[in-house]
Amino acid sequence: MYILGFESSCDETSAAVVFADGNQRRILSDVIASQVETHKLYGGVVPEIASRAHIEVISNITKQALDEAGLTVKDIDCIAVTACPGLIGALLVAVNFAKSLAYANSIPLVAVNHIHAHTAAVYTAYESLEPPLLSLAVSGGNTSFYHVKDYVTYEYIGGTRDDAAGEAFDKIGRVIGLPYPSGAAMDKLAHTGDKNAIKFPSPAIVGDTLDLSFSGLKTAALNHINSLKQKSDDISAHYPNIAASYTAAVVEGIAKKADLALKKTGLKSFVLCGGVAANSHLRAALTDVCKSNGATLYMAPVSLCGDNGAMVAMQGYYEFLAGKRAPLSLNASATQFIQ
Ligand code: KG4
Repeated sequence: MYILGFESSCDETSAAVVFADGNQRRILSDVIASQVETHKLYGGVVPEIASRAHIEVISNITKQALDEAGLTVKDIDCIAVTACPGLIGALLVAVNFAKSLAYANSIPLVAVNHIHAHTAAVYTAYESLEPPLLSLAVSGGNTSFYHVKDYVTYEYIGGTRDDAAGEAFDKIGRVIGLPYPSGAAMDKLAHTGDKNAIKFPSPAIVGDTLDLSFSGLKTAALNHINSLKQKSDDISAHYPNIAASYTAAVVEGIAKKADLALKKTGLKSFVLCGGVAANSHLRAALTDVCKSNGATLYMAPVSLCGDNGAMVAMQGYYEFLAGKRAPLSLNASATQFIQ
């Protein structure tokens, strides 16, 4: 069947068509309109601007997604839309657009949880991948471990208690002059420094929990940078070591909890997804963790790590198969209401 997926939870507007039939899962189109250049001016996403920008492009990218898939709306069997979590005004754009399109064309509508969709993106890359599995969704807004029991049953088993790993990269990246969002630039810079140069605190919460906390690490990095600034006007020579040591703290903290999650659940399939899943240091560390636990690591292809409509369509397929249908009264939620 053909699923048209919509995503507008943050600063990417996306429409995509996925064909799915059992484990045959193919992306036919995945059009993404990014607002990064707009929000760069402010060093972060401005919600009101994001909503307006989604409205401007959503009709055209829908047409483009259908054209690229060689289909018309009449060929679509199901419409899937991210309904939570995210920026409320931004979410409402795709939710309302999807509801109208579904109503006007009598197409079933399903609501999708954005974080679940990040995991589903990985199904499109590996034909053999299926639950049960352990998923780590790590992005600008989330760092969460899930025990995925079946395609629509996600049990949250731990994650960050405050900021997400992506937010932690973006914040410190900005302070050391990297462009917004800083994750990719920090990744590169970290390869040029010494990861043992500075001892930053681990974000892994001590004990038998899968929880993490990035706020202390962020404060330690800010204090380190500020004390360097007091000693010298130009501290740019220190940036490679700061990036390398900071990245090592983030990655080692996550890897420690990933190791514990595999041991606690006994799961043998590990999915790494979300924007920060593109991080080369994290990919390498989790490869080692999975190897030592006899688990297989399924990483989202870098092109599907960020927000996209294909992941929403993919998760929508499974919601549809499970009999879930969204009413025309569907609302969006900034927090997670679809468990
Ligand atoms: O999944 P995503 O596109 O949006 C959210 O739902 O948050 O993730 C965006 C986040 C940003 O914080 C960005 O800096 C981070 O992913 N990111 C990276 C890398 N590429 C993107 N973080 C670390 N290393 C990367 N290579």
